[in-house]
Amino acid sequence: MDKGKIVYQLLCAALLVAVGFLVWSNKQKSEALESAKTVATDVDKRQTSYILETVTKDSFDLPYPKVVGGMPIQEAFAARATNRNFSNQPLSDQQISDLLWVANGVNRAESNMRTAPSARNCQEIDIYVFLRSGIYKYDALRNYLFLIKGGDHRREAGKNTFFKDAPVALVFAADFEKMSEYDQEAKTFYSATDVGFVSENVYLYCASNNLSTCVCGFIDRESLALRIGLRNGKVLLSQAIGWEKE
Ligand SMILES: Cc1cc2nc3c(=O)[nH]c(=O)nc-3n(C[C@H](O)[C@H](O)[C@H](O)COP(=O)(O)O)c2cc1C
Repeated sequence: MDKGKIVYQLLCAALLVAVGFLVWSNKQKSEALESAKTVATDVDKRQTSYILETVTKDSFDLPYPKVVGGMPIQEAFAARATNRNFSNQPLSDQQISDLLWVANGVNRAESNMRTAPSARNCQEIDIYVFLRSGIYKYDALRNYLFLIKGGDHRREAGKNTFFKDAPVALVFAADFEKMSEYDQEAKTFYSATDVGFVSENVYLYCASNNLSTCVCGFIDRESLALRIGLRNGKVLLSQAIGWEKE
């Protein structure tokens, strides 16, 4: 065969392969871009979603909490204050997740240690989240909420009238099962001490995120215990959280 013809055919084949490769790799790139866009949109949607506010769920996987950002801690201390003015504008699922993580979430996954200290590491402070859609209990280890009771019970979270306005009320209760090594007096003393750290974490989160908050001892502990189905424990404090009313 003519040598020139063979070279020509080889060049044509190489060109075809190169064009084919270019088409294939461009297709791969645009598919990867599309899938990245879908993931990003899903993340964006999740960060600005208000599912908890609008739908009563038996359980809810909270979005992964943001563990970076916020204002410098010194500025948060400077801004920390009680504010009893609440608008009824809701918090997003992401904000609820971030708030709960700051309050008493797991910050050392290898040992399940928490953002708030607790005496003998009992980790006895449970958080019940009162929302328009229902009362949920926070499972810090699984970053998850599970439904205790459907319906809007926010106004029952505390005796101050602002509980009816604030979109989120946290009710802090001690689980005495986790304090079995303590006598009754020590259970009362240490749980009352430990809850202060959780509440202060919430205060600092609110300061850093321009949210109003007020912790309250003026609450009906017995009726709240019944409402959340607490058997061996004590309701300690409630804390209202929301945007400031203009
Ligand atoms: C344990 C505790 C219980 C509180 N109970 C209530 C309450 O029931 N109602 C209320 O309006 N404020 C309550 N507060 C908020 C205090 O009144 C408030 O922290 C205090 O006036 C100081 O203001 P500051 O937080 O802006 O520094 C309570 C605070 C703490 C620490």
